[in-house]
Amino acid sequence: MLLRIPGVYAPQHDTWLLAGALAEHLLDPRTRVLDICTGTGALALRAAELGAGSVTAIDISHRAVLTARLNARARGCPIRVLQGSLTGPVRGERFDLVISNPPYVPAEDDRIPGTGRARAWDAGTDGRALLDRICCQAPDVLAPGAMLLLAQSALSGVDKTQVMLEEQGLRVDVVARREIPFGPVLTARRRMLAARGIITAEQRNEEIVVIRGRQHP
Ligand SMILES: C[S@@+](CC[C@H](N)C(=O)[O-])C[C@H]1O[C@@H](n2cnc3c(N)ncnc32)[C@H](O)[C@@H]1O
Repeated sequence: MLLRIPGVYAPQHDTWLLAGALAEHLLDPRTRVLDICTGTGALALRAAELGAGSVTAIDISHRAVLTARLNARARGCPIRVLQGSLTGPVRGERFDLVISNPPYVPAEDDRIPGTGRARAWDAGTDGRALLDRICCQAPDVLAPGAMLLLAQSALSGVDKTQVMLEEQGLRVDVVARREIPFGPVLTARRRMLAARGIITAEQRNEEIVVIRGRQHP
């Protein structure tokens, strides 16, 4: 069970899809893992439990950082939890595996919330505000031969992520997919998303995917 301070993203379909993809990869005491946008720390903890040698987790939210630290302590996992934006707090470091389930939901406008619960999901009108930055920044913290596992919705442009990561020199594939019913946020935005042509008027489901980018050894 995970502790969760109010306002911190509750792990759900996308978290568990990425956790499943993570479990398909071999982690050992030499594996240095970075979890960007950690929330409760669910994925960082999973990496530690799967045998990673060291795990670093980052979130911009003070409540999330506190929650992830509490969860790490409760499970006896020595996870380094840092507050900051994306890879900012670990600039200059290198990791063997970078995982991220960032905000990716297309929003009303391009403002990125500075506080509040919506900061966990709102990502600009195309849902790519954080994804684009991760595609640009993550390769800088990957060690030679390292790998990125990134979760997102098909509503926010899987092809664009693939192209951006390939442009950064990574070999890219989709390693997990799952169709899930719209949650309350997308349900409330159905009309707006249909008007923008992001979904059809009848659509009630989205596909979530995990994209893998691998550094050439
Ligand atoms: C969709 S939630 C995922 C949480 C967790 N990884 C999971 O899968 O359950 C996204 C998280 O990203 C965090 N976040 C939003 N903007 C961020 C940024 N610029 N840098 C780091 N974390 C950010 C939010 O606070 C939130 O905890």
